[in-house]
Amino acid sequence: MNRRTIITGTGHYVPPRIVTNFDLEKLMSTSDEWIQQRTGIKTRHHVEPGVGSSDLGVEAAARAIAAAGIDKSSIDFLIAATVSPDYTFPGIGVQIGAKLGIPGIGALDVRNQCTGFIYGLSIADQYIRTGMYKRILLVASEVQSTNLNYSDDGRDTAVLFGDGAAAVICEPHEAEDGRGLLSTHLWADGRFVETLWQPYPTVKDKPYVNQAVIDNKLAFPRMDGKKVFVNASERMPEAVMTGLTANGLTVADIDLLIPHQANDRISQMVAKKLQIPLEKVVRNIDRYGNTTAASIPLALDECVLEGRVKPGDLVVLASFGSGFTWASAVLRW
Ligand code: ACO
Repeated sequence: MNRRTIITGTGHYVPPRIVTNFDLEKLMSTSDEWIQQRTGIKTRHHVEPGVGSSDLGVEAAARAIAAAGIDKSSIDFLIAATVSPDYTFPGIGVQIGAKLGIPGIGALDVRNQCTGFIYGLSIADQYIRTGMYKRILLVASEVQSTNLNYSDDGRDTAVLFGDGAAAVICEPHEAEDGRGLLSTHLWADGRFVETLWQPYPTVKDKPYVNQAVIDNKLAFPRMDGKKVFVNASERMPEAVMTGLTANGLTVADIDLLIPHQANDRISQMVAKKLQIPLEKVVRNIDRYGNTTAASIPLALDECVLEGRVKPGDLVVLASFGSGFTWASAVLRW
């Protein structure tokens, strides 16, 4: 029996407040022109105080459940990917299960930053193919706007990130029609931890939360933007090629490539290296910024809603992020 995982429903949710580059100009020394030229971003969404990534995740999950046309009580496992959980512990998986009204099922939190969705999809795929679970809710959700340094020394990262969530329902597919998830490939290289990370607060400090962390503005994400840019532009095309080759496919077979929306220049570079026409590359960073784990499923759901993806299409997902971690997934939609 050839059992594959298929995505039967998708959904996304972003908080209503839109923050433009002009809004950011009022907080730090930046400009709409610089941000658009270097990143392609025009707007992003920010939450109101009191809203967490579990809240956005619940909204996205409800939409994915409705799109799949299923009863939420039939979901037998939950996977949540985020870099920005509501609390240090527990993770948002258990919260999303409770807030959705489906407490009791297993809930796993994935901590793989920008590649969290593909790592989560890979985990869901193993459970589905072994028959352990039959209906998995995979949610990726981020609230990053509350943890950015909106001053000149944080402007390289503050302009990039946005808040948002997206979810998919994964189920088994046994029809011999070629549809379903064909492969996932995952990589990590911890030698680059310090190239893109948030080192504070750290359990290595005693006390964990201390005044020096606040005074020295240490509790913010940091990165070596150029190094991230170069590595993302190289690893994502490699990840795509590995996925295609494993399935006996070529770039010409791709109908839709959904790269992690880190920076539009990175997406264009990935397209150039793969020699794939830009029309086949999904790019929505202009409206959302980088929503980390949520960026790929958010883009996927927009494609579904716009009718940009049809049954039988070859859809390839590729991501790169903190860790470094990187990953690809090949799906016959
Ligand atoms: N507004 C205005 N000027 C800025 C800003 C800003 N928001 N941020 C940085 N600058 C300045 C720098 O200080 C620098 O000034 P200097 O020349 O006086 O020193 C100048 O602009 C040029 O900076 P560079 O770092 O050379 O600019 P670059 O073209 O590399 O673009 C960027 C910076 C956009 C951060 C880019 O390196 C990038 O996108 N890297 C990838 C990082 C990324 O995607 N991170 C997201 C998380 S990881 C992921 O999702 C894959």
